[in-house]
Amino acid sequence: MIKIIDKDFIPYISAEEINERVRELGKEISLAYKDEKPLLVSVLNGAFIFTADLIRTIDTLVEVTFIRVASYEALKTTGKVREILGLKENVFGRDILILEDIVDTGRTLEHLLEAFKDLGANSIKVATLLHKPDAQEKAEKPDFVGFEIPNKFVVGYGLDYEGMGRELKDIYQLR
Ligand code: IMP
Ligand code: MG
Repeated sequence: MIKIIDKDFIPYISAEEINERVRELGKEISLAYKDEKPLLVSVLNGAFIFTADLIRTIDTLVEVTFIRVASYEALKTTGKVREILGLKENVFGRDILILEDIVDTGRTLEHLLEAFKDLGANSIKVATLLHKPDAQEKAEKPDFVGFEIPNKFVVGYGLDYEGMGRELKDIYQLR
């Protein structure tokens, strides 16, 4: 068990299990994109470790870039607005693969799908290390999923609790 700030976490998915699953995802993605040169869009901060490991298991040509999703309340009218920051690449006509650490409610994913559609992407798919199907409110499902997990808070392998715990090699679950 480990303590991060005020919470206890217990080991949940080991580094070995993660590495094995990431390699399988890399194979699936390589096969799916063997005839295209997709633009892989990694969503910071959480997806940075997943991205670094995943792309080194891909054996077809890909381009990789990083974005942030800024979310803020929009003057109490439409609720949360999510804006994409840091995207310099031309998306029009490209095959986009979004790389996420986790799909929880699916709201971030929904906004990203809309944004890339508006930018004229040819195709948009999503690879996420973790998916909480029981938490998901939105209909869009990720195309490549590492692990489906119950609706419990997790940290490690890029995922944080209050900014901490991203460096952990294994994934831990809130006790
Ligand atoms: P969404 O609810 O699907 O929009 O997910 C929003 C973001 O919340 C994710 O990209 C993560 O950064 C964060 N998040 C959701 N669940 C967890 C968790 O269990 N641990 C750490 N971060 C999480
Ligand atoms: Mg995230």
